[in-house]
Amino acid sequence: MNQISKNPDADAPRDDARSASKAAFLRERCVVPGGSMRAASWFRPYPSYVGRGEGCWIYDLDESRILDCANNFFSLVHGHAFPPVIEAIKKKLGGGTAFGLPTESEIQLAEVLRDRNPQFEQTRFCNSGTEAVMHAIKGARGVTGRERIAKFEGCYHGAYDWVEVSLAPKPGEWDDADGNPRSIAGNVGAPASVLSQTVVLPFDNPSRCEEILEREGPTLAAVILDTNASRAGMVPVSRETAGVVQRACERHGIILIVDDVISYRLSVAGSAPLYGLHPDLITTAKIIGGGMPIGAVSGRADVMSVFNHADGPPKVSIGGTFSGNPLSMAAGLATLEHYDAAAVDRLNSKAEALRGKVNASFAAAGVPARLLGSGSLFRLHLTTKPVTDYRSAYADAALSKVYAKIQLDMLTDGVLLTPNCSGALSTPMTDVEVNVVSELLTKHTRRAMDAAESA
Ligand SMILES: Cc1ncc(COP(=O)(O)O)c(C=O)c1O
Repeated sequence: MNQISKNPDADAPRDDARSASKAAFLRERCVVPGGSMRAASWFRPYPSYVGRGEGCWIYDLDESRILDCANNFFSLVHGHAFPPVIEAIKKKLGGGTAFGLPTESEIQLAEVLRDRNPQFEQTRFCNSGTEAVMHAIKGARGVTGRERIAKFEGCYHGAYDWVEVSLAPKPGEWDDADGNPRSIAGNVGAPASVLSQTVVLPFDNPSRCEEILEREGPTLAAVILDTNASRAGMVPVSRETAGVVQRACERHGIILIVDDVISYRLSVAGSAPLYGLHPDLITTAKIIGGGMPIGAVSGRADVMSVFNHADGPPKVSIGGTFSGNPLSMAAGLATLEHYDAAAVDRLNSKAEALRGKVNASFAAAGVPARLLGSGSLFRLHLTTKPVTDYRSAYADAALSKVYAKIQLDMLTDGVLLTPNCSGALSTPMTDVEVNVVSELLTKHTRRAMDAAESA
C-alpha cells in the first residue's frame, strides 16, 4: 500500500538551484508569459513540472511523488493513466484521431449521458467547459431572441466575457446604490456592453434574487447556475434559491442552464436532480472526457433543436474542428462506465469522512477553520462563520496569503491542492491517502493560522 514519503526539508524554502522544475521554469518563462501555461497552477518561486502520473500520484521532473488532490482541476475522477481509459484510447488510436465526419463513439457517449439522466435528452460535444457554456448561452439567445443573461456573483463558468462578469469583485464594489450586486468587468478591456448584458445575482439571498429576476426576467435569455460553485465557496446552493431560479425561468421564459462542468461528479445523474432543478440546458466537461479535452451542451430536445443543422441553416451553429473526436469520446465512455452509482457513493462517503475527520481535528485543536464541500469535493475555509456564498467565502489580501502558504506547505509535504485550498478525491485513493491529507491539512492550517496571528 502506498505511503506518502514525507519531504525531510518540508520547512525549508522551496527553492532548489538543482531542481529540474526550476530549470524548466527558467527556460519556459522566455517563451511563455508568466512562465507556465496556467495561472491557477502557479507556485512561487516556480511550479513543479510533471514528468508523469499514475493513479492518484504525480511524479515531478525530480521524481518527487505528489498526491494529486487537484486532479487537473477536478477533471480526473479515476486519477492518472487509469488502465481502462488507456486501453480505450489505445484501441482507437490506431484507427485515426480526428475526422471531419461523425463516428459511432459520439453516439455512444451521448446515449450514456442520457441513460444516466433523461434531462440530457440530446447532446452536442465540444472541446472545453468554456465552449460548452458559450454555446449554451448562444443557444439560449437563439431560442429566446433576447441578449442578456444572469449569473451568480463570484461563480466561474469559463473564459467567456459575459460569464467572467463579477467573478472576483472586491468588497467596495459589491453593491450598487439600491443594494443589488454590481456587474464588474472580469478583465481590463471587456466591452461595456457585456456589463449591461450581464445581471449579477446573489447566491444566498433568495428574496433579493427573486426581486432581481422579477425585474430583469423579461429581458433575460438565460440564467446560469453552478449548484456547488467552487470559487463561490464550493458550498451547495440553497433549495430556496434553486426554487426561485426555477420558477422565475418558467414564469419569464428564460432558459435555465445548470453548469455541471465540475458538479456532474456529485451523482450519477449530475447535480440538477439533487436540487429539484429541471434545467433546459446543462453544460458538462472535465470528467466526462476521462482526462481528454471535452465539453458538452445537453438538454431537452425542443431546446437543443436550436442547434439542428439538418433541416436548413440552424438558428445557432456549433462549430469545432475537434468536437466529438473519438479519443475524447472513448476516454469519457471508459471513465463513466467505471463511475456508476456504487462508485459515486464510495467516493462521496470517503470525502464525507475526510471532511468529518478534519473538522473534528480543527475543533479539538481549537483551529478556527472548516473543511466544507459536497460529494467528493472539498474546500478549506479559514473561518468558523457560516460560508454560504462568494461574500462569506471572500479572502482579503492578508487571508489569501495564509491560503497560499497552506497550499505551498501541502505541496512541500507532497500533496497538491488548488490555489484556494480545494480538492477532490479520486477513486484510486485509499484510506491511507485520505488520512494523510487529513493530518497534513490539520497541521499546516494550524501552523499557518498561528503564524498569521502572531505576525
Ligand atoms: C463550473 C465551470 N464551468 C466552466 C468551466 C470552464 O471549463 P474549461 O476549463 O474546460 O474551459 C469551469 C472550469 O473550471 C468550471 O468550473
